Amino acid sequence: MSATENKPLAGRRILLGVTGGIAAYKTAGLVRLFKKAGADVRVVMTPDASRFVTPLTLGTLSENEVHVEIFPENEAGSWTKHVALGLWADLFLVAPLTAQTLSKLVDGACDSMLTAVALTARCPIMVCPAMDHDMYIHPAIRSNLDTLSSRGVEVMEAEHGELASGLIGQGRLPEPESIFEHASELLSRIAGSSSGPLAGKRVVVTAGPTRERIDPVRFISNHSTGTMGFELARAAARRGADVVLIAGPVSLSTPEGVRRVDVESTADMHAAVNGQADADIIIMSAAVADFTPARPSESKIKKDASSPDMTLKPTADILADLGSRKRDGQLLVGFALETDNGLENARGKLQRKNLDWIVLNNPKKAGAGFGTGTNRVTLLAADDQRVDLPVLPKSEVADAIIELAVLGTDPDAIDPLS
Ligand code: CTP
Repeated sequence: MSATENKPLAGRRILLGVTGGIAAYKTAGLVRLFKKAGADVRVVMTPDASRFVTPLTLGTLSENEVHVEIFPENEAGSWTKHVALGLWADLFLVAPLTAQTLSKLVDGACDSMLTAVALTARCPIMVCPAMDHDMYIHPAIRSNLDTLSSRGVEVMEAEHGELASGLIGQGRLPEPESIFEHASELLSRIAGSSSGPLAGKRVVVTAGPTRERIDPVRFISNHSTGTMGFELARAAARRGADVVLIAGPVSLSTPEGVRRVDVESTADMHAAVNGQADADIIIMSAAVADFTPARPSESKIKKDASSPDMTLKPTADILADLGSRKRDGQLLVGFALETDNGLENARGKLQRKNLDWIVLNNPKKAGAGFGTGTNRVTLLAADDQRVDLPVLPKSEVADAIIELAVLGTDPDAIDPLS
C-alpha cells in the first residue's frame, strides 16, 4: 500500500469549526478520522461549543491550539489570527452548525473567532447543520441554508433519527465517518477544479540540489533537500496555479496536482527551465551548483590515478539568464543563501538578476537552512519592501512567500498561526 493510500489526506489542511450543540461531542471522532488520514487539523470553537466538548479534548486530538476567543487575553498582536486561519485552510468545515450560528453566517456577523474566520476564509466552506426536527424544517432555517448554498457553501443535510429531545425526525448530525467521506470527496473535487487566487496562472518552481558529474559514480553537490521548493509548489497548487516543479535529485513525494520534471545537473535544470521560461511566475529555490567539472571522466577514476583532473568551470546562472529576458508582467523570485553580509549581498543579487523578490536565508542561523523542517527568511522586493519572517515550518514560509511576493497580500494579514 502506498503512502497516499494510507494517508489519503496527507498535506490537506482542515479547519474544523465547532458550534454549541449537543452533537459537538461527535467532533472528537471526526478530528481523529482526519488526523488518521494524514490531514493537518486546526479547530475553532464558539464559546458555547466549549460547554459541550472541551478545547483541551480537541486540542489534544488535533495536536494544535484550539481558538475560541477573537480577542484572547494576554495575547497581544494575535487578533489577525482569523485572517491567518482563513488563509491557511484548504477546507473550513463547520460541524455541527447550530441554528444560531447558521443565522450569523447568513448575516455576516463577526462576534467570535469562528464567524470571523467564515468571513475571511478563501477556501471552500462546508457546513453540517444539526438541531431539533421542528427547528430544522422551520422556513427560517430552510431559507438560511438555501442562502448559504446559493453562495457556494456545501451543505451536508442532517440525518433522520432519534434526536436529543427524544423526538424522531430529521436534524441529527451525520456520523463522523459520513462527514469525513463527504469532506474528502469535496476536497478531491476542489483539487480537480483549479479554483483559487492563482487559477489560470502558470508557475514554475525549481527545487533541490543539482549534481555535477566527476565520473560515472561521483559528483559534486550540496546539502539541499528540496523541502522549501516542494512546499512552494504545494502552496501555489493549493491556490489553483498550474505548477511545474523542476526538481534536482531529492527523495520527496510530488505534491498533489503538481507536474514534476526530474533533472540532475545544472545544465539539465537550465534546459528544463528554458522549456517553461514563458511562465507567469518563476521561483528559483533550487540550490544550483556554481561550478561543474571541466572535463568529467567517461570511466570511473581509479584511486591510483596520480592526480585526478578536478578542474572546475562555472555553470550558467539560470536565474540571471531568466532575468535578462524577463517579459512584461512576469514575476521572478530568487533565493539568496548567505552566511555573511546577507542583506547587502541579497540586494545585489536582486538587482543583478533583475528579480521582483528575493528570499534571503542564512543556513548558519538557528531554525534555518538545509535539512531542518523550519526556516527563517527575510523577503526583499525590487520596490524596497522588506519583510522579516520569524522561524516557521517550511510549509508556512512557503505560504507566506506565495501570499506576499506572488499575491501581494499585506504582511500584517499573514501573521504566523502559533
Ligand atoms: N542560481 C541560478 N543558477 C546558478 C546559481 C544560482 O539560477 N548557477 C539561482 C538560485 O536558484 C537562487 C539565486 O540564483 O535563486 C541565488 O543563488 P545563490 O547560490 O544564493 O547565489 P549565487 O548567484 O550562486 O552567488 P554566490 O554563490 O556568489 O552567493
